[in-house]
Amino acid sequence: MSVTAEHKNTKVTVQVMRKMKAAGEKISMLTAYDFTMAGLLDQAGVDAILVGDSAGNVMAGYDTTLPVTLEQIIYHGASVRRGVKRALLVVDMPFGTCCGNPYESLSNAVAIMKGTGAEALKIEGGEELLQDIKKIIAAGIPVMGHLGLMPQSVHQYGGFGLRAKSDTEAEKLKRDALLLQEAGCFAITLEKVPASLAGEIAASLSIPIIGIGAGGRVDGQVLVVQDMLGMNRDFSPKFVRKYADLSFAITQAVSGYISDVKSLEFPSAEESY
Ligand code: KIV
Repeated sequence: MSVTAEHKNTKVTVQVMRKMKAAGEKISMLTAYDFTMAGLLDQAGVDAILVGDSAGNVMAGYDTTLPVTLEQIIYHGASVRRGVKRALLVVDMPFGTCCGNPYESLSNAVAIMKGTGAEALKIEGGEELLQDIKKIIAAGIPVMGHLGLMPQSVHQYGGFGLRAKSDTEAEKLKRDALLLQEAGCFAITLEKVPASLAGEIAASLSIPIIGIGAGGRVDGQVLVVQDMLGMNRDFSPKFVRKYADLSFAITQAVSGYISDVKSLEFPSAEESY
């Protein structure tokens, strides 16, 4: 029996995620930012739900995740919490809140944990943030690392392209991943790196590697839910598979509503008091 089938009616915890990697069972993770979507994903049985700072893109319409504040992630996290029973709930630390000052980072981490009811935090960064990450883990907070393309560093890269193409960057990535495991991270998200490199890292570490644009040889996958549901016609990167065309479905439904309102088809007598 698979680890998640065995734990079907119990919470997915960081320990369950470790067991899943050990058993070779792939981990499914999706983002959510609100109560309704979180409930749907949880009922469908997704293993982990990430309240990503991609909220800045898909909820607020910013070009980057940089404007997302501590208060905003807490609002989204608390909303998602109320919809989630089974999945592991992970919340992102927004840009500037895990910042090279371990005491300030811990204080921000505690604020997110208290304000949302999250079970883990995700932090973008490797060696440079190791002291902050260790301080947060020492306080009892499970941390998921995030390496490869780190969208909070977009201005350093000059865009959202593939990372770790050069040997130097690939070596740093491997070193950072090992350091995060040694620091006590329970998992790492690996974004937009060559599949062979991601597979090598997943095979060499004992903690789960959750990929996005990192190929199929990792321990699990994460996607932004609006992307995989096809809610944004203008965003179709290679690594996104669209499992629905909600952009079309929603536009059709809203057109039907508009037409019924204009033609007095809605509301009917049955829909009136
Ligand atoms: O913010 C986010 O949604 C993320 C995922 C894309 C991994 O970090």
